[in-house]
Amino acid sequence: MDRQPLAPDEVRRFRQEGFLSIERFAPPAEVEAVAPIYDRLFEVRAGWDEGNYFDMGEPDKTKAHAYAAPQLLQLSRYAPELRLLPIFERSRLLATQILGPKARLDLDHGIFKPAGSTAPTPWHQDEAFWDGRYNHDGLSIWVPLQPVDEVSGCMHFVPKSHRGEVMRHRTIGGDPRVHGLEVPDFEPAFAQACPLPLGGATLHHARALHYSAPNRSGVDRRAYIFVFTGRKRRRLFSRPQHREMTSQSDRARRERAAMSGPA
Ligand code: NI
Repeated sequence: MDRQPLAPDEVRRFRQEGFLSIERFAPPAEVEAVAPIYDRLFEVRAGWDEGNYFDMGEPDKTKAHAYAAPQLLQLSRYAPELRLLPIFERSRLLATQILGPKARLDLDHGIFKPAGSTAPTPWHQDEAFWDGRYNHDGLSIWVPLQPVDEVSGCMHFVPKSHRGEVMRHRTIGGDPRVHGLEVPDFEPAFAQACPLPLGGATLHHARALHYSAPNRSGVDRRAYIFVFTGRKRRRLFSRPQHREMTSQSDRARRERAAMSGPA
């Protein structure tokens, strides 16, 4: 496995543009190996009891509810065998090449948009979820488990948006019971869509503005995402925290976790 998977020019482009689309992140068979594990976890709604399974854009309903865009945090906690798969190591090498030796896997998570899902992932910056006392150098590696295009909900990025500030966010639709965040009323003048073959991935900086459309295709859109943190620097002034730990969505999820007892 190549310890420097990116060409120097690709690292430069990531730093300049805030994102990078890679057609060959891993051999397709390595990505296919994830699919049965991923599908099983979503099928049984792993993590529900701990509040790690929820819908990105809808308030909590029942565990059996057919959510439009369910999200599962910490897949590898519920299926540790994932950590043995080569794409875990590929992700780590990629993140380390860009972020340096401080790169650390913060979270692996999945966002599942079933065929015909009406839920977009609205424009947002991942850094809005993070501690507002710091500027964060971090990135996400977004790996689709099937080919993706604009119809099925590939990623879109606003080039160079990671060079600006963290914009004002709110919970999706302004509903405080929802986990996901959005920049309200935002329509970029230009955005780059990144369709990918199986085995491809996109990388984006924690501050890069990104979006994905609803899944209007006939095939489920499964994305497996690795979030890495690198250096963080204390800001002179804290920015507003967009999602307090006291928010209703967190409270609902914490209650589930409390009821399930220590994990
Ligand atoms: Ni995001």
